[in-house]
Amino acid sequence: MAHLLSTSCSLKIPSCRKTSFQSLDQSPNAFPTSFTVKTSKSLVRRVVLPGESSQRSHTVYATTTPIKQEASAQKRSSLHQSSNDPSSKQKRVMVIGGDGYCGWATALHLSNKGYEVAIVDNLIRRLFDNQLGLDSLTPITSIHNRIRCWKSLTGKTIELYIGDICDFEFLSETFKSFEPDAVVHFGEQRSAPYSMIDRSRAVFTQHNNVIGTLNVLFAIKEYREQCHLVKLGTMGEYGTPNIDIEEGYLTITHNGRTDTLPYPKQASSFYHLSKVHDSNNIAFTCKAWGIRATDLNQGVVYGVTTEETAMHEELCNRLDYDGVFGTALNRFCVQAAVGHPLTVYGKGGQTRGYLDIRDTVQCVEIAIANPAQPGEFRVFNQFTEQFSVNELAALVTKAGEKLGLDVKTISVPNPRVEAEEHYYNAKHTKLIELGLKPHLLSDSLLDSLLNFAILYKDRVDSKQIMPSVSWRKIGAKTKTVTA
Ligand SMILES: NC(=O)c1ccc[n+]([C@@H]2O[C@H](COP(=O)([O-])OP(=O)(O)OC[C@H]3O[C@@H](n4cnc5c(N)ncnc54)[C@H](O)[C@@H]3O)[C@@H](O)[C@H]2O)c1
Repeated sequence: MAHLLSTSCSLKIPSCRKTSFQSLDQSPNAFPTSFTVKTSKSLVRRVVLPGESSQRSHTVYATTTPIKQEASAQKRSSLHQSSNDPSSKQKRVMVIGGDGYCGWATALHLSNKGYEVAIVDNLIRRLFDNQLGLDSLTPITSIHNRIRCWKSLTGKTIELYIGDICDFEFLSETFKSFEPDAVVHFGEQRSAPYSMIDRSRAVFTQHNNVIGTLNVLFAIKEYREQCHLVKLGTMGEYGTPNIDIEEGYLTITHNGRTDTLPYPKQASSFYHLSKVHDSNNIAFTCKAWGIRATDLNQGVVYGVTTEETAMHEELCNRLDYDGVFGTALNRFCVQAAVGHPLTVYGKGGQTRGYLDIRDTVQCVEIAIANPAQPGEFRVFNQFTEQFSVNELAALVTKAGEKLGLDVKTISVPNPRVEAEEHYYNAKHTKLIELGLKPHLLSDSLLDSLLNFAILYKDRVDSKQIMPSVSWRKIGAKTKTVTA
Protein backbone atom coordinates (compact mmCIF):
# COMPACT_ATOMS: atom_id res chain seq x y z
CA MET A 1 0.00 0.00 0.00
CA ALA A 2 3.07 2.23 -0.15
CA HIS A 3 1.87 4.24 -3.14
CA LEU A 4 -1.44 4.94 -1.45
CA LEU A 5 0.22 6.12 1.70
CA SER A 6 2.30 8.52 -0.36
CA THR A 7 -0.68 9.78 -2.34
CA SER A 8 -0.90 13.46 -1.62
CA CYS A 9 -4.05 14.13 0.27
CA SER A 10 -5.05 16.99 2.54
CA LEU A 11 -6.98 15.42 5.30
CA LYS A 12 -10.45 16.64 5.97
CA ILE A 13 -11.19 15.98 9.61
CA PRO A 14 -14.95 15.56 10.00
CA SER A 15 -16.31 18.25 12.23
CA CYS A 16 -17.06 17.59 15.86
CA ARG A 17 -17.81 13.89 15.95
CA LYS A 18 -19.76 13.15 19.09
CA THR A 19 -19.12 9.77 20.60
CA SER A 20 -21.25 8.19 23.20
CA PHE A 21 -18.88 5.51 24.46
CA GLN A 22 -18.61 4.63 28.03
CA SER A 23 -14.85 4.78 28.33
CA LEU A 24 -13.06 1.56 29.08
CA ASP A 25 -11.07 3.48 31.67
CA GLN A 26 -14.20 3.90 33.74
CA SER A 27 -14.12 0.27 34.75
CA PRO A 28 -10.44 -0.49 35.20
CA ASN A 29 -10.87 -4.08 36.25
CA ALA A 30 -13.29 -5.01 33.56
CA PHE A 31 -10.91 -5.31 30.65
CA PRO A 32 -7.70 -7.08 29.80
CA THR A 33 -4.78 -4.74 30.18
CA SER A 34 -1.77 -6.29 28.51
CA PHE A 35 -0.83 -6.83 24.90
CA THR A 36 1.91 -8.72 23.19
CA VAL A 37 2.98 -6.95 20.01
CA LYS A 38 4.71 -9.16 17.51
CA THR A 39 6.20 -8.38 14.12
CA SER A 40 6.20 -10.57 11.05
CA LYS A 41 9.76 -11.58 11.93
CA SER A 42 8.52 -13.22 15.13
CA LEU A 43 9.97 -10.49 17.31
CA VAL A 44 7.86 -9.68 20.28
CA ARG A 45 7.32 -6.57 22.30
CA ARG A 46 5.15 -6.82 25.35
CA VAL A 47 3.22 -3.67 26.15
CA VAL A 48 2.06 -3.40 29.72
CA LEU A 49 -0.80 -1.10 30.49
CA PRO A 50 -1.53 0.28 33.95
CA GLY A 51 -3.16 -2.23 36.26
CA GLU A 52 -1.98 -5.24 34.31
CA SER A 53 -3.11 -8.64 35.42
CA SER A 54 -0.96 -11.48 34.15
CA GLN A 55 -4.05 -13.52 33.30
CA ARG A 56 -5.53 -10.95 31.00
CA SER A 57 -3.62 -10.51 27.77
CA HIS A 58 -4.01 -10.32 24.01
CA THR A 59 -1.56 -11.00 21.24
CA VAL A 60 -1.21 -8.29 18.64
CA TYR A 61 0.96 -8.89 15.59
CA ALA A 62 2.12 -5.88 13.68
CA THR A 63 4.38 -5.25 10.75
CA THR A 64 4.84 -1.62 11.65
CA THR A 65 5.59 -1.67 15.37
CA PRO A 66 9.12 -0.91 16.53
CA ILE A 67 10.92 -4.03 17.64
CA LYS A 68 12.36 -4.05 21.14
CA GLN A 69 13.24 -7.59 22.01
CA GLU A 70 13.14 -11.11 20.63
CA ALA A 71 10.97 -13.82 21.99
CA SER A 72 10.44 -17.41 21.17
CA ALA A 73 7.46 -18.60 19.18
CA GLN A 74 4.30 -18.84 21.21
CA LYS A 75 3.26 -22.25 22.41
CA ARG A 76 -0.33 -23.21 21.90
CA SER A 77 -2.28 -24.42 24.88
CA SER A 78 -2.68 -28.16 25.25
CA LEU A 79 -6.39 -27.76 24.54
CA HIS A 80 -5.62 -26.45 21.10
CA GLN A 81 -6.79 -28.83 18.37
CA SER A 82 -4.52 -27.84 15.50
CA SER A 83 -4.76 -31.13 13.65
CA ASN A 84 -4.40 -31.04 9.89
CA ASP A 85 -6.77 -34.00 9.83
CA PRO A 86 -9.72 -33.07 7.61
CA SER A 87 -12.09 -35.12 9.77
CA SER A 88 -11.35 -33.15 12.97
CA LYS A 89 -13.98 -30.57 13.89
CA GLN A 90 -13.07 -27.19 12.45
CA LYS A 91 -12.39 -25.02 15.39
CA ARG A 92 -9.82 -22.34 14.62
CA VAL A 93 -11.05 -19.65 12.29
CA MET A 94 -8.91 -16.82 10.93
CA VAL A 95 -11.05 -13.84 9.92
CA ILE A 96 -9.11 -11.71 7.46
CA GLY A 97 -10.63 -8.21 7.35
CA GLY A 98 -12.09 -8.73 10.83
CA ASP A 99 -12.07 -5.00 11.64
CA GLY A 100 -14.45 -4.26 8.74
CA TYR A 101 -18.23 -4.16 8.46
CA CYS A 102 -18.91 -7.83 7.68
CA GLY A 103 -15.72 -9.14 9.29
CA TRP A 104 -16.26 -7.62 12.74
CA ALA A 105 -19.81 -8.94 13.04
CA THR A 106 -18.65 -12.37 11.81
CA ALA A 107 -15.65 -12.58 14.15
CA LEU A 108 -17.89 -11.89 17.16
CA HIS A 109 -20.54 -14.32 15.98
CA LEU A 110 -18.04 -17.15 15.48
CA SER A 111 -16.39 -16.42 18.82
CA ASN A 112 -19.81 -16.50 20.47
CA LYS A 113 -20.52 -19.85 18.84
CA GLY A 114 -17.40 -21.37 20.39
CA TYR A 115 -14.89 -21.10 17.55
CA GLU A 116 -11.34 -19.97 18.36
CA VAL A 117 -11.08 -16.75 16.36
CA ALA A 118 -8.18 -14.62 15.17
CA ILE A 119 -8.63 -11.35 13.33
CA VAL A 120 -6.09 -10.37 10.66
CA ASP A 121 -6.42 -6.79 9.42
CA ASN A 122 -4.12 -3.96 8.35
CA LEU A 123 -6.77 -1.35 9.33
CA ILE A 124 -6.58 0.22 5.88
CA ARG A 125 -10.35 0.75 5.81
CA ARG A 126 -9.90 3.30 8.60
CA LEU A 127 -7.12 4.94 6.54
CA PHE A 128 -9.44 5.28 3.52
CA ASP A 129 -11.84 7.24 5.72
CA ASN A 130 -9.03 9.52 6.86
CA GLN A 131 -7.78 10.04 3.32
CA LEU A 132 -11.20 10.85 1.87
CA GLY A 133 -12.61 12.75 4.86
CA LEU A 134 -15.32 10.16 5.54
CA ASP A 135 -16.59 8.58 8.74
CA SER A 136 -18.92 5.82 9.82
CA LEU A 137 -22.37 7.03 10.91
CA THR A 138 -21.92 5.04 14.10
CA PRO A 139 -18.98 5.82 16.36
CA ILE A 140 -16.55 2.91 16.23
CA THR A 141 -13.76 2.41 18.68
CA SER A 142 -10.30 0.94 17.98
CA ILE A 143 -9.97 -2.75 17.23
CA HIS A 144 -7.99 -3.12 20.47
CA ASN A 145 -10.82 -1.67 22.54
CA ARG A 146 -13.37 -3.76 20.68
CA ILE A 147 -11.51 -6.98 21.48
CA ARG A 148 -10.91 -5.99 25.12
CA CYS A 149 -14.59 -5.22 25.52
CA TRP A 150 -15.59 -8.58 24.00
CA LYS A 151 -13.24 -10.39 26.37
CA SER A 152 -14.60 -8.56 29.39
CA LEU A 153 -18.22 -9.28 28.46
CA THR A 154 -17.87 -12.91 27.45
CA GLY A 155 -14.51 -14.12 28.73
CA LYS A 156 -13.67 -15.08 25.14
CA THR A 157 -10.35 -14.13 23.55
CA ILE A 158 -10.04 -13.03 19.94
CA GLU A 159 -6.42 -12.98 18.79
CA LEU A 160 -5.33 -10.00 16.73
CA TYR A 161 -2.71 -9.89 13.97
CA ILE A 162 -2.27 -6.42 12.52
CA GLY A 163 -0.65 -6.47 9.11
CA ASP A 164 -1.07 -6.61 5.37
CA ILE A 165 -1.86 -9.93 3.73
CA CYS A 166 -0.04 -8.69 0.62
CA ASP A 167 3.10 -9.10 2.80
CA PHE A 168 3.63 -12.85 2.49
CA GLU A 169 6.14 -12.96 5.32
CA PHE A 170 3.57 -11.47 7.70
CA LEU A 171 0.83 -13.79 6.46
CA SER A 172 3.10 -16.83 6.83
CA GLU A 173 3.77 -15.93 10.45
CA THR A 174 0.06 -15.61 11.17
CA PHE A 175 -0.59 -19.03 9.62
CA LYS A 176 2.29 -20.68 11.51
CA SER A 177 1.24 -19.07 14.75
CA PHE A 178 -2.55 -19.47 14.63
CA GLU A 179 -2.81 -22.70 12.58
CA PRO A 180 -6.30 -22.04 11.18
CA ASP A 181 -8.72 -24.81 10.23
CA ALA A 182 -10.74 -22.29 8.23
CA VAL A 183 -9.91 -18.88 6.81
CA VAL A 184 -12.73 -16.43 6.15
CA HIS A 185 -11.37 -13.86 3.74
CA PHE A 186 -13.11 -10.47 3.89
CA GLY A 187 -9.84 -8.51 3.66
CA GLU A 188 -10.19 -6.57 0.43
CA GLN A 189 -10.82 -3.05 -0.85
CA ARG A 190 -14.56 -3.48 -1.35
CA SER A 191 -15.92 -0.27 -2.83
CA ALA A 192 -16.67 -0.09 -6.56
CA PRO A 193 -16.63 3.75 -6.52
CA TYR A 194 -13.27 3.77 -4.66
CA SER A 195 -11.78 1.61 -7.42
CA MET A 196 -13.08 4.09 -10.01
CA ILE A 197 -11.69 7.30 -8.42
CA ASP A 198 -8.45 7.32 -10.41
CA ARG A 199 -5.74 5.09 -11.85
CA SER A 200 -3.86 4.72 -8.56
CA ARG A 201 -7.00 3.52 -6.71
CA ALA A 202 -7.86 1.13 -9.58
CA VAL A 203 -4.34 -0.32 -9.46
CA PHE A 204 -4.38 -0.45 -5.67
CA THR A 205 -7.72 -2.28 -5.61
CA GLN A 206 -6.64 -4.96 -8.03
CA HIS A 207 -3.18 -5.34 -6.46
CA ASN A 208 -4.52 -5.47 -2.91
CA ASN A 209 -7.34 -7.89 -3.67
CA VAL A 210 -5.72 -10.21 -6.21
CA ILE A 211 -2.27 -10.43 -4.56
CA GLY A 212 -3.77 -10.69 -1.07
CA THR A 213 -5.93 -13.63 -2.15
CA LEU A 214 -3.04 -15.27 -4.01
CA ASN A 215 -0.97 -15.01 -0.83
CA VAL A 216 -3.76 -16.65 1.18
CA LEU A 217 -3.85 -19.51 -1.35
CA PHE A 218 -0.06 -19.96 -1.15
CA ALA A 219 -0.16 -19.82 2.66
CA ILE A 220 -2.81 -22.56 2.75
CA LYS A 221 -0.78 -24.71 0.35
CA GLU A 222 2.43 -24.16 2.28
CA TYR A 223 1.24 -24.36 5.90
CA ARG A 224 -2.34 -25.63 6.24
CA GLU A 225 -3.22 -27.87 3.31
CA GLN A 226 -6.54 -28.99 4.78
CA CYS A 227 -7.66 -25.50 5.77
CA HIS A 228 -11.01 -24.50 4.23
CA LEU A 229 -10.98 -21.13 2.47
CA VAL A 230 -14.26 -19.23 2.74
CA LYS A 231 -13.83 -16.31 0.39
CA LEU A 232 -16.18 -13.35 0.06
CA GLY A 233 -17.00 -12.76 -3.57
CA THR A 234 -19.88 -10.63 -4.82
CA MET A 235 -23.05 -11.10 -6.86
CA GLY A 236 -21.67 -8.19 -8.91
CA GLU A 237 -19.27 -10.63 -10.57
CA TYR A 238 -22.17 -11.95 -12.70
CA GLY A 239 -23.41 -8.56 -13.92
CA THR A 240 -26.99 -8.48 -15.16
CA PRO A 241 -27.36 -11.14 -17.91
CA ASN A 242 -30.70 -11.55 -19.67
CA ILE A 243 -31.01 -15.13 -18.38
CA ASP A 244 -31.30 -16.60 -14.86
CA ILE A 245 -28.12 -16.46 -12.78
CA GLU A 246 -27.11 -19.89 -11.45
CA GLU A 247 -24.96 -20.59 -8.39
CA GLY A 248 -21.50 -20.57 -9.92
CA TYR A 249 -21.96 -23.04 -12.77
CA LEU A 250 -24.06 -23.32 -15.93
CA THR A 251 -24.75 -26.47 -17.94
CA ILE A 252 -24.56 -25.62 -21.63
CA THR A 253 -25.22 -27.66 -24.75
CA HIS A 254 -23.26 -26.25 -27.67
CA ASN A 255 -23.03 -27.83 -31.13
CA GLY A 256 -24.44 -31.05 -29.76
CA ARG A 257 -22.04 -31.35 -26.81
CA THR A 258 -22.87 -30.61 -23.16
CA ASP A 259 -20.66 -29.36 -20.33
CA THR A 260 -21.03 -27.68 -16.95
CA LEU A 261 -18.91 -24.54 -16.98
CA PRO A 262 -18.26 -21.57 -14.69
CA TYR A 263 -21.15 -19.10 -15.06
CA PRO A 264 -20.06 -16.18 -17.31
CA LYS A 265 -18.82 -13.11 -15.42
CA GLN A 266 -19.57 -9.55 -16.55
CA ALA A 267 -18.16 -7.35 -13.82
CA SER A 268 -18.74 -3.61 -14.05
CA SER A 269 -15.95 -1.90 -12.08
CA PHE A 270 -12.27 -2.47 -11.37
CA TYR A 271 -13.34 -3.66 -7.90
CA HIS A 272 -15.82 -6.22 -9.26
CA LEU A 273 -13.20 -7.36 -11.77
CA SER A 274 -10.74 -7.98 -8.91
CA LYS A 275 -13.27 -10.41 -7.44
CA VAL A 276 -13.58 -12.22 -10.78
CA HIS A 277 -9.79 -12.58 -10.93
CA ASP A 278 -9.86 -13.92 -7.35
CA SER A 279 -12.52 -16.48 -8.24
CA ASN A 280 -10.47 -17.70 -11.21
CA ASN A 281 -7.29 -17.98 -9.12
CA ILE A 282 -9.12 -19.88 -6.38
CA ALA A 283 -10.82 -22.26 -8.86
CA PHE A 284 -7.45 -22.96 -10.47
CA THR A 285 -5.70 -23.74 -7.18
CA CYS A 286 -8.53 -26.03 -6.08
CA LYS A 287 -7.91 -28.02 -9.25
CA ALA A 288 -4.13 -27.82 -9.24
CA TRP A 289 -3.33 -28.14 -5.52
CA GLY A 290 -6.47 -29.69 -4.04
CA ILE A 291 -7.40 -26.58 -2.05
CA ARG A 292 -10.91 -26.70 -0.55
CA ALA A 293 -12.77 -23.44 -1.10
CA THR A 294 -16.18 -21.82 -0.88
CA ASP A 295 -16.75 -18.64 -2.88
CA LEU A 296 -19.62 -16.71 -1.28
CA ASN A 297 -21.06 -14.44 -3.94
CA GLN A 298 -22.59 -12.01 -1.53
CA GLY A 299 -25.35 -9.54 -2.33
CA VAL A 300 -25.55 -6.02 -0.90
CA VAL A 301 -25.51 -6.12 2.91
CA TYR A 302 -27.79 -3.89 5.02
CA GLY A 303 -28.30 -3.37 8.73
CA VAL A 304 -25.88 -2.70 11.52
CA THR A 305 -26.84 -4.73 14.56
CA THR A 306 -26.22 -8.38 15.26
CA GLU A 307 -26.85 -10.24 18.51
CA GLU A 308 -23.20 -9.76 19.48
CA THR A 309 -22.59 -6.15 18.37
CA ALA A 310 -25.69 -5.13 20.34
CA MET A 311 -24.10 -6.32 23.59
CA HIS A 312 -22.14 -3.09 24.23
CA GLU A 313 -21.58 0.31 22.59
CA GLU A 314 -17.88 -0.50 22.22
CA LEU A 315 -18.85 -3.44 19.99
CA CYS A 316 -20.89 -1.24 17.64
CA ASN A 317 -20.33 -1.94 13.95
CA ARG A 318 -19.56 0.66 11.33
CA LEU A 319 -22.33 2.01 9.06
CA ASP A 320 -21.28 3.78 5.88
CA TYR A 321 -23.66 6.25 4.24
CA ASP A 322 -21.32 8.21 1.95
CA GLY A 323 -21.24 8.06 -1.85
CA VAL A 324 -18.04 5.98 -1.90
CA PHE A 325 -18.53 3.24 0.72
CA GLY A 326 -22.25 3.46 1.56
CA THR A 327 -24.44 0.70 0.12
CA ALA A 328 -27.98 1.23 -1.17
CA LEU A 329 -30.39 0.54 1.67
CA ASN A 330 -28.09 1.78 4.46
CA ARG A 331 -27.58 5.01 2.50
CA PHE A 332 -31.30 5.55 1.93
CA CYS A 333 -32.09 5.14 5.65
CA VAL A 334 -29.51 7.76 6.60
CA GLN A 335 -30.72 10.11 3.87
CA ALA A 336 -34.30 9.74 5.14
CA ALA A 337 -33.19 10.40 8.72
CA VAL A 338 -31.52 13.73 7.87
CA GLY A 339 -34.20 14.92 5.46
CA HIS A 340 -32.04 14.47 2.35
CA PRO A 341 -33.95 13.19 -0.71
CA LEU A 342 -33.25 9.55 -1.49
CA THR A 343 -30.72 9.50 -4.33
CA VAL A 344 -31.86 7.06 -7.00
CA TYR A 345 -29.25 6.68 -9.75
CA GLY A 346 -30.85 7.10 -13.20
CA LYS A 347 -34.08 5.16 -13.80
CA GLY A 348 -33.75 3.10 -10.59
CA GLY A 349 -34.60 -0.24 -12.17
CA GLN A 350 -31.19 -1.63 -11.14
CA THR A 351 -32.03 -4.89 -9.36
CA ARG A 352 -29.65 -6.73 -7.01
CA GLY A 353 -29.67 -9.36 -4.28
CA TYR A 354 -29.71 -8.07 -0.67
CA LEU A 355 -29.23 -9.57 2.78
CA ASP A 356 -29.32 -8.57 6.42
CA ILE A 357 -25.93 -8.51 8.17
CA ARG A 358 -27.34 -11.09 10.60
CA ASP A 359 -27.56 -13.43 7.61
CA THR A 360 -23.99 -12.65 6.51
CA VAL A 361 -22.69 -14.02 9.81
CA GLN A 362 -25.08 -16.98 9.65
CA CYS A 363 -24.05 -17.87 6.08
CA VAL A 364 -20.35 -17.80 6.94
CA GLU A 365 -20.94 -20.03 9.94
CA ILE A 366 -22.90 -22.47 7.76
CA ALA A 367 -20.11 -22.54 5.18
CA ILE A 368 -17.51 -23.27 7.87
CA ALA A 369 -19.60 -25.97 9.51
CA ASN A 370 -20.13 -27.71 6.13
CA PRO A 371 -16.70 -27.42 4.49
CA ALA A 372 -15.94 -27.96 0.82
CA GLN A 373 -14.13 -31.17 -0.06
CA PRO A 374 -10.42 -31.13 -0.94
CA GLY A 375 -10.13 -29.89 -4.52
CA GLU A 376 -13.70 -28.58 -4.55
CA PHE A 377 -14.41 -25.00 -5.66
CA ARG A 378 -17.91 -24.44 -4.32
CA VAL A 379 -19.96 -21.35 -5.14
CA PHE A 380 -22.93 -20.11 -3.10
CA ASN A 381 -25.01 -17.06 -3.98
CA GLN A 382 -25.31 -15.36 -0.60
CA PHE A 383 -28.39 -13.16 -0.52
CA THR A 384 -31.97 -13.60 0.60
CA GLU A 385 -34.16 -11.25 -1.48
CA GLN A 386 -33.84 -9.12 -4.58
CA PHE A 387 -35.03 -5.53 -4.96
CA SER A 388 -34.75 -2.76 -7.51
CA VAL A 389 -33.45 0.61 -6.28
CA ASN A 390 -36.94 2.08 -6.86
CA GLU A 391 -38.48 -0.65 -4.69
CA LEU A 392 -36.01 0.12 -1.89
CA ALA A 393 -36.78 3.84 -2.12
CA ALA A 394 -40.52 3.09 -1.87
CA LEU A 395 -40.00 0.85 1.19
CA VAL A 396 -37.88 3.46 2.97
CA THR A 397 -40.39 6.20 2.12
CA LYS A 398 -43.24 4.18 3.63
CA ALA A 399 -41.25 3.27 6.75
CA GLY A 400 -40.04 6.88 7.15
CA GLU A 401 -43.56 8.27 6.92
CA LYS A 402 -44.64 5.95 9.73
CA LEU A 403 -41.96 7.59 11.88
CA GLY A 404 -43.13 11.07 10.90
CA LEU A 405 -40.33 11.74 8.41
CA ASP A 406 -40.99 13.62 5.20
CA VAL A 407 -39.15 11.42 2.68
CA LYS A 408 -38.61 12.60 -0.91
CA THR A 409 -36.85 10.82 -3.77
CA ILE A 410 -34.80 12.36 -6.58
CA SER A 411 -33.23 10.83 -9.63
CA VAL A 412 -29.57 11.80 -9.98
CA PRO A 413 -27.44 11.23 -13.09
CA ASN A 414 -26.07 7.71 -12.83
CA PRO A 415 -22.32 7.90 -12.10
CA ARG A 416 -21.96 4.22 -13.03
CA VAL A 417 -22.06 2.43 -16.35
CA GLU A 418 -24.84 -0.12 -15.85
CA ALA A 419 -28.24 -1.18 -17.19
CA GLU A 420 -30.97 0.82 -15.44
CA GLU A 421 -33.77 -1.53 -16.48
CA HIS A 422 -33.07 -5.21 -16.93
CA TYR A 423 -34.08 -8.81 -16.26
CA TYR A 424 -32.75 -10.22 -12.97
CA ASN A 425 -33.40 -13.60 -11.46
CA ALA A 426 -30.56 -15.08 -9.41
CA LYS A 427 -30.69 -18.51 -7.77
CA HIS A 428 -29.88 -18.67 -4.06
CA THR A 429 -30.92 -22.04 -2.71
CA LYS A 430 -27.68 -23.72 -1.59
CA LEU A 431 -27.30 -21.91 1.73
CA ILE A 432 -31.01 -22.39 2.46
CA GLU A 433 -30.54 -26.13 1.84
CA LEU A 434 -27.72 -26.11 4.39
CA GLY A 435 -29.95 -24.48 7.02
CA LEU A 436 -29.93 -20.68 6.50
CA LYS A 437 -32.95 -19.09 8.20
CA PRO A 438 -33.20 -15.69 6.48
CA HIS A 439 -34.08 -12.43 8.20
CA LEU A 440 -36.19 -10.90 5.45
CA LEU A 441 -36.50 -7.13 5.10
CA SER A 442 -39.53 -6.31 7.19
CA ASP A 443 -41.17 -3.13 8.43
CA SER A 444 -39.64 -3.71 11.85
CA LEU A 445 -36.11 -3.96 10.49
CA LEU A 446 -36.57 -0.80 8.45
CA ASP A 447 -37.96 0.94 11.53
CA SER A 448 -34.97 -0.05 13.63
CA LEU A 449 -32.47 0.91 10.91
CA LEU A 450 -34.20 4.27 10.50
CA ASN A 451 -34.26 4.80 14.27
CA PHE A 452 -30.53 4.00 14.36
CA ALA A 453 -29.95 6.58 11.63
CA ILE A 454 -32.06 9.13 13.52
CA LEU A 455 -30.10 8.46 16.74
CA TYR A 456 -26.80 9.33 15.06
CA LYS A 457 -28.04 11.92 12.56
CA ASP A 458 -25.93 14.69 14.15
CA ARG A 459 -22.86 12.81 12.95
CA VAL A 460 -23.95 12.97 9.30
CA ASP A 461 -21.83 15.11 6.99
CA SER A 462 -24.37 15.88 4.28
CA LYS A 463 -21.55 16.83 1.85
CA GLN A 464 -20.65 13.13 1.65
CA ILE A 465 -24.08 11.97 0.54
CA MET A 466 -24.10 12.69 -3.20
CA PRO A 467 -22.11 10.42 -5.53
CA SER A 468 -18.78 11.99 -6.46
CA VAL A 469 -17.09 9.28 -8.54
CA SER A 470 -17.89 8.89 -12.23
CA TRP A 471 -17.13 5.65 -14.10
CA ARG A 472 -16.72 7.59 -17.34
CA LYS A 473 -14.54 10.39 -16.00
CA ILE A 474 -11.88 8.25 -14.25
CA GLY A 475 -8.44 9.54 -15.19
CA ALA A 476 -4.79 8.66 -14.82
CA LYS A 477 -4.00 11.61 -12.56
CA THR A 478 -4.23 10.88 -8.86
CA LYS A 479 -7.14 12.76 -7.30
CA THR A 480 -6.31 14.64 -4.16
CA VAL A 481 -8.84 15.48 -1.50
CA THR A 482 -8.99 18.96 -0.07
CA ALA A 483 -10.69 20.15 3.06
N1 LIG B 1 -20.56 -4.80 2.40
C1 LIG B 1 -21.23 -5.34 1.39
O1 LIG B 1 -22.38 -4.98 1.11
C2 LIG B 1 -20.59 -6.45 0.58
C3 LIG B 1 -21.33 -7.00 -0.48
C4 LIG B 1 -20.78 -8.03 -1.23
C5 LIG B 1 -19.50 -8.49 -0.94
N2 LIG B 1 -18.79 -7.93 0.08
C6 LIG B 1 -17.43 -8.44 0.35
O2 LIG B 1 -17.29 -8.73 1.71
C7 LIG B 1 -15.96 -8.40 2.13
C8 LIG B 1 -16.03 -7.49 3.34
O3 LIG B 1 -16.77 -6.32 3.01
P1 LIG B 1 -16.97 -5.18 4.10
O4 LIG B 1 -18.15 -4.41 3.70
O5 LIG B 1 -16.89 -5.76 5.44
O6 LIG B 1 -15.67 -4.30 3.82
P2 LIG B 1 -14.82 -3.39 4.82
O7 LIG B 1 -14.03 -2.45 3.98
O8 LIG B 1 -15.68 -2.83 5.89
O9 LIG B 1 -13.83 -4.45 5.50
C9 LIG B 1 -12.70 -4.98 4.84
C10 LIG B 1 -11.59 -5.11 5.87
O10 LIG B 1 -10.45 -5.69 5.24
C11 LIG B 1 -9.28 -4.99 5.64
N3 LIG B 1 -8.28 -5.15 4.57
C12 LIG B 1 -8.35 -4.70 3.29
N4 LIG B 1 -7.24 -5.02 2.63
C13 LIG B 1 -6.44 -5.70 3.49
C14 LIG B 1 -5.14 -6.28 3.40
N5 LIG B 1 -4.43 -6.21 2.27
N6 LIG B 1 -4.61 -6.90 4.49
C15 LIG B 1 -5.33 -6.96 5.65
N7 LIG B 1 -6.56 -6.43 5.80
C16 LIG B 1 -7.11 -5.80 4.73
C17 LIG B 1 -9.76 -3.55 5.86
O11 LIG B 1 -8.92 -2.82 6.72
C18 LIG B 1 -11.16 -3.76 6.43
O12 LIG B 1 -11.14 -3.79 7.84
C19 LIG B 1 -15.26 -7.77 0.94
O13 LIG B 1 -14.44 -8.73 0.31
C20 LIG B 1 -16.39 -7.39 0.01
O14 LIG B 1 -16.00 -7.45 -1.32
C21 LIG B 1 -19.32 -6.92 0.85
